[in-house]
Amino acid sequence: MSEYMVEMQHIDKVFRTRHVLQLDEETRRRRWYKVNEVHAAADICFGIKSGEIFGLLGPNGAGKTTAVKMISGLVRPDRGMVLVDGLDVERKRRQILRKVGVVLEGTRTSMWPLTPYENLMYYGNLKNVRGSVLKGRAHDLLDFIGLKEKKNTEVRKLSRGQKQKLAICIALIADPNVLLLDEPTTGLDVQSSRAIKDKIIELTRQHGRSVLVTTHDMHVAQELCDRIGIINKGHLVTCQPTSDLLDLFSDQVFSFKVSSLPDSAEFSDIPGVLAATTEQSADGPVLVVKVAPDEALRSEALYGVTERLRGLGCRMVSVNQRQQNLESVFLQITGEPLQDAGEKDSSGTDAA
Ligand SMILES: Nc1ncnc2c1ncn2[C@@H]1O[C@H](COP(=O)(O)OP(=O)(O)OP(=O)(O)O)[C@@H](O)[C@H]1O
Ligand SMILES: [Mg+2]
Repeated sequence: MSEYMVEMQHIDKVFRTRHVLQLDEETRRRRWYKVNEVHAAADICFGIKSGEIFGLLGPNGAGKTTAVKMISGLVRPDRGMVLVDGLDVERKRRQILRKVGVVLEGTRTSMWPLTPYENLMYYGNLKNVRGSVLKGRAHDLLDFIGLKEKKNTEVRKLSRGQKQKLAICIALIADPNVLLLDEPTTGLDVQSSRAIKDKIIELTRQHGRSVLVTTHDMHVAQELCDRIGIINKGHLVTCQPTSDLLDLFSDQVFSFKVSSLPDSAEFSDIPGVLAATTEQSADGPVLVVKVAPDEALRSEALYGVTERLRGLGCRMVSVNQRQQNLESVFLQITGEPLQDAGEKDSSGTDAA
């Protein structure tokens, strides 16, 4: 038996979209079409254990939603196998559906003419949850997520955040072993995202469920996830425990807020300084210094920088260890900035 509740094994997925040009009036042929090919998954491998929160991070178009859809059986991979609780998602779809709860970004899961409570009754019945168990669970879920007062209001009259909360309740109504959340806290207020994060933690720590969260937000990932996979253009560029990922870089970048902007070249020869740049931030000039990971060298570098600043007559206003975010971690791992995954064009095929 595998140690993983969810497992993606060497998954490939290419989306092809064909653009047929208008019918040519003279030749009566549709001459050209363009084929857009997007690699949404390229040999993706990862696993999620019971009781674990796994975060999938990446820029727009990286392939996060596609991964979620493949685990829930909504998109079929071209190659590789997805396993949930040891079952092949492609062959055991019905069984999988009962084990997996999913919230997809921006989709209309709930039925708008019905109330949240009626929605939960409907989806509970679909998933074979009935009677007092269903009613009790529906009330509990609406309570915890803060929709108690809205449980008899038609969904179409709810705000976007309230609809998102209901979508999460729907995903939880059958008490699934695996919960897949695509951007769960985007667009929610602080209190609501706190409630959802707490629920996710309770589900995993106390009830041993497995959770996959996709996000652009490093803070959400940092706070919630035990392990993080960073995905870009369909490639999983790294996959490791959150603390390791942050430790990789966290001690290495310092920002010195100063009275006037020095020339960054003045700092590059200091032992232990790997790079120095200057920035004009909203509240004044900042010198950003990247230092060596080794503790002794790092200390040398920090002494060196402060002395050099004094020598240059720059007053120091404050010194901070720069918080790592997705952007900088991503940049340092891949060597390229976080950007939209490019779409590869292969055009010029004759489609008569
Ligand atoms: N049904 C589809 N048909 C064609 N292309 C698709 C389809 N679904 C996704 N894609 C393409 O696959 C790539 C990955 O899309 P996906 O939705 O997985 O990205 P994402 O990481 O979730 O991005 P975002 O952060 O914007 O939600 C994109 O380039 C997208 O255009
Ligand atoms: Mg997405």
